[in-house]
Amino acid sequence: MKGIVLAGGLGTRMMPLTKITNKHLLPIYNKPMVYYPIQTLVDAGIRDIMIVTGGNSAGDFLRLLGNGEEFGLKQLNYAYQKGEGGIAEALGICEQFGRGERIAVVLGDNIIERNIIEPVKKFAAQAKGAKILLKEVHDPERFGVPELKGDKVVKIEEKPKNPKSKFAVIGIYLYDEQVWEFIKRCKPSGRGELEITDVNNFYVEQGTMTHDVLEGWWSDAGTFDSLMRASKLVAEGGANKK
Ligand code: G1P
Repeated sequence: MKGIVLAGGLGTRMMPLTKITNKHLLPIYNKPMVYYPIQTLVDAGIRDIMIVTGGNSAGDFLRLLGNGEEFGLKQLNYAYQKGEGGIAEALGICEQFGRGERIAVVLGDNIIERNIIEPVKKFAAQAKGAKILLKEVHDPERFGVPELKGDKVVKIEEKPKNPKSKFAVIGIYLYDEQVWEFIKRCKPSGRGELEITDVNNFYVEQGTMTHDVLEGWWSDAGTFDSLMRASKLVAEGGANKK
């Protein structure tokens, strides 16, 4: 399985912190944000990793991460996203890198307490399709939210006003090769972006989407409050624990 970290976007929700740098280079306690999603992939045994970045500070990723030596990697791959076309667009840039294998995608601002070893193992044993990870939250309207019937996800809504469950679809996605075709079928949403939720719904409609509930805490870091919460969680107990 190959890994992809999506660390593009302009971070407009976090101005002026993101005026001169990329959101994913901001500190989460004692490390730059992008370290955590890379570690999540490495801990799951994934060694072939691409980082998609964008904006003005793209060169800083190369200087910061180099060839991935700090993570025990021999090489890192980099791609560049112009502008803010959305998560699915950023992922589409990786088609040439990702084709031929299944992929694990982690959003560059998603930080977890533990690891994704079990879900990755279960997905590898799945005949086809995709797997998402869910976490119960107090503010589901900020996220992609699954509608569940029994233990099945029947639909995912992006930032719904009236969430159909208390779960967030976290920014860690496991996909088979169909993902590249599904991305091509996406149309820009109300916020003018290709939404990862639309990609996930293609799998839901196909009946090949599975899900697990993530163990341990999870936080995004894309708002001032979640950035502070993530730093606090990491400072108090650490992230990416085995
Ligand atoms: C994105 C996804 C959303 C997901 C979230 C997880 O939201 O669109 O479905 O729940 O990441 O962090 P965004 O960060 O673009 O608001």
